[in-house]
Amino acid sequence: MNILLLGSGGREHALAWKLVQSHLLSHLYIAPGNAGTSSLGTNLDISVNDFQAIKSAVLKYNINMVIVGPEDPLVAGIHDFFLANPGIRSIPVIGPVRNAAMLEGSKDFAKKFMILHRIPTAKYMTFDLSTFEQGVAYLKTLQPPYVLKADGLAAGKGVIICKTFGEAVDEFNAMLLNARFAEASRKVVVEEFLHGTELSVFILTDGISYKILPEAKDYKKIGEGDTGLNTGGMGSVSPVPFADRSFMDKVESRIIQRTISGLKTDNIDYRGFIFFGLMNVHGDPYLIEYNCRLGDPETESIIPRLQNDLVKLLLATTQQRLGDETITVDPRYAATVMMVSAGYPGSYEKGKILTGEALITDTLVFHSGTRINSETRQTETNGGRVLALTSLGNSLHDALSKSYENADKIDFEGKYFRRDIGFDLE
Ligand code: AMP
Ligand code: GLY
Repeated sequence: MNILLLGSGGREHALAWKLVQSHLLSHLYIAPGNAGTSSLGTNLDISVNDFQAIKSAVLKYNINMVIVGPEDPLVAGIHDFFLANPGIRSIPVIGPVRNAAMLEGSKDFAKKFMILHRIPTAKYMTFDLSTFEQGVAYLKTLQPPYVLKADGLAAGKGVIICKTFGEAVDEFNAMLLNARFAEASRKVVVEEFLHGTELSVFILTDGISYKILPEAKDYKKIGEGDTGLNTGGMGSVSPVPFADRSFMDKVESRIIQRTISGLKTDNIDYRGFIFFGLMNVHGDPYLIEYNCRLGDPETESIIPRLQNDLVKLLLATTQQRLGDETITVDPRYAATVMMVSAGYPGSYEKGKILTGEALITDTLVFHSGTRINSETRQTETNGGRVLALTSLGNSLHDALSKSYENADKIDFEGKYFRRDIGFDLE
């Protein structure tokens, strides 16, 4: 079968790497892809949000399945677009329809869902311009730090954590009165701060049953020791040592099963990946957020551990036969180190020539922001996050050492990476 994969990050390169290992795949197309994906299939110069162009490509290349990497097209309704178009209605799309993707697309919707279905989460209230004063009064009842969240998608920047009450009120003001995140902050979720350690848990569901994929821990801050600005993610590890059987049993019974049965009760037909952003609070899991997709860079750590044929799993998902599948996972540790451009997550330059990939040994290189220069044919940087290096090892230390050894072999002007991924787990 022919598959079209939408996206251009390290997540999509890792998915592409896994998909091409399946004998069920004839040809892989990636839109728009990056320099890494171009060696595994055909990159199409189409934006993930250009649904008409995606439809044309699906017809032109006889695509039999579409896999959606990032959240934007899902929240914008790409799956619904397929269902509403007779020519492509029968082509399965991996990723939820719009009202199901609202679990990520609206924080207020997600919190209401969690409360309704008794899923442990931080206590909260949602406010808009008309309830601004009540919002300030609610903030007064909370202990610092304060957590403010723009309701809608804000390119991963919509969560603000404020140390003082004054800062929180200023931020609340900026979001609601000054539309800091435009339409996304028309409503603001104010919630209690949870103290604990985060982890990311993933499932694949066909709307009836679900399969738990390997879990991972993501390192979001730009600086070592988890300092500085938030990024898309600077590295990840899988498995997560504290996510032992007893903890994962709680995650499954209190969070995953209640989510799946809640979706059924609410008549929300969810088919695709669900990413549970969790906080481990003294051994009890709390749900911070849902995402309607896989994580990046978590995918770069979890996909190399998954031993199943991914195409077969996804086919079973589209045919609601996922219950027949058994997930098998490589017991080794995977460690991913993300190499980024100087200046990221602020402004950075693109077009820096990448060298050293041919020297890499015993480590997977997943491209993120890279492209092939059309004139020189050299690989160059094309984003903030540039390359993800993933290694497997019998211990977390072994896996990390391999990734770091290889990170030193890669070069591009201004390269930066955190040297302490996994520091809190070893
Ligand atoms: P999000 O954009 O929803 O992934 O949130 C960004 C980050 O904010 C999360 O990964 C957490 O580190 C942090 N965060 C969000 N909500 C809370 C909370 N209630 N308590 C503590 N940290 C939080
Ligand atoms: N790594 C976090 C995310 O993909 O949202």
